[in-house]
Amino acid sequence: MDVLDALKGKYLGGIAGAGDEAALEEIRLAALGKKGEISLKMRELGQMAPEARQAAGAALNALKDEIDTALRARKAGLADAALDERLKAEWLDVTMPGRPRRQGTIHPVSQVTEEVTAIFADMGFSVAEGPQIESDWYNFDALNIPPEHPARQEHDTFFMAREAGDNRPPHVLRTHTSPVQIRSMQTHGAPLRVIAPGRVYRMDMDQTHAPMFHQIEGLAIDRDISMANLKWVLEEFCRAFFEVDHVELRFRASHFPFTEPSAEVDIRYSNVGGALKIGEGDKWMEILGSGMVHPKVLAAAGVNPDEWQGFAFGLGIDRIAMLKYGIPDLRAFFESDLRWLRHYGFASLDMPTVAGGLSR
Ligand code: PHE
Repeated sequence: MDVLDALKGKYLGGIAGAGDEAALEEIRLAALGKKGEISLKMRELGQMAPEARQAAGAALNALKDEIDTALRARKAGLADAALDERLKAEWLDVTMPGRPRRQGTIHPVSQVTEEVTAIFADMGFSVAEGPQIESDWYNFDALNIPPEHPARQEHDTFFMAREAGDNRPPHVLRTHTSPVQIRSMQTHGAPLRVIAPGRVYRMDMDQTHAPMFHQIEGLAIDRDISMANLKWVLEEFCRAFFEVDHVELRFRASHFPFTEPSAEVDIRYSNVGGALKIGEGDKWMEILGSGMVHPKVLAAAGVNPDEWQGFAFGLGIDRIAMLKYGIPDLRAFFESDLRWLRHYGFASLDMPTVAGGLSR
């Protein structure tokens, strides 16, 4: 049996030392393959005398089993070790913050829209939308601006073409987000709290005006809403948006056909060497128009003005984006200059939330 002991020592030792599956397979072939050493010994059994064959056969079979078991065990061990290695190498902490590649960035207008939406959502406002190509009725009449009203001229409206012979009033590119007030009241009735961000269009172009710009409309309708509620909401909004404890707003009496009374709101800021600061200094920037919704507007939208009242405001998104992020020229917003976008853009994974920080 010395021969078998030697074989056993050789193969079990080899298996224990095998570093990978290929080495194990080589050993398996050398021992148990068709021409393997153990297999050849099995074949020799045929020429033995019966008693010797029985003893040798049993011993050989036991050795074969032992080698086979050792091969399997070692193979499983190698696989486990390989998996451990892989898990160690591919370990990933999913709680780490993302490392955004600054290839594409979020445009300041999108960022600010998200920020404003997050703040008003926190105050119970939901988001409404309306079409950018709007009917004359929604953009003007329903908002108490009848056809010959001088306010129509002030809006520098873009008109859509009508087919020759079609004498209905042309559709317009909406000149403000206020038509969404009408649409929301028609759809949801009162009480109501919505904001409506979106694009608006006017024929105007200089450092602070572009033919397309962005507004957020706000509308709150209930049984006893007053100008005081409007003031509180706007001040609260500005504190949250500009991320400062102190803001100073100036409510200037104004006129809009769709609100009565009406106020334009300016915010105090300073500009020292190009660094804008909110809540101090001697400069004022107009950021929105507002007022108590005119009873005729409520009636046009199917809401009973004897029962309901509310406030509305229209906020210039681009304006407050310029103020908050110190962006000097409005025209650059819409030039799609990649260098500008990389400089003023935002990382795509930073979703603004009121609790988690708006702009970080
Ligand atoms: N629609 C007005 C504008 O575009 C702003 C506004 C909205 C004023 C709501 C009052 C109430 O200038």
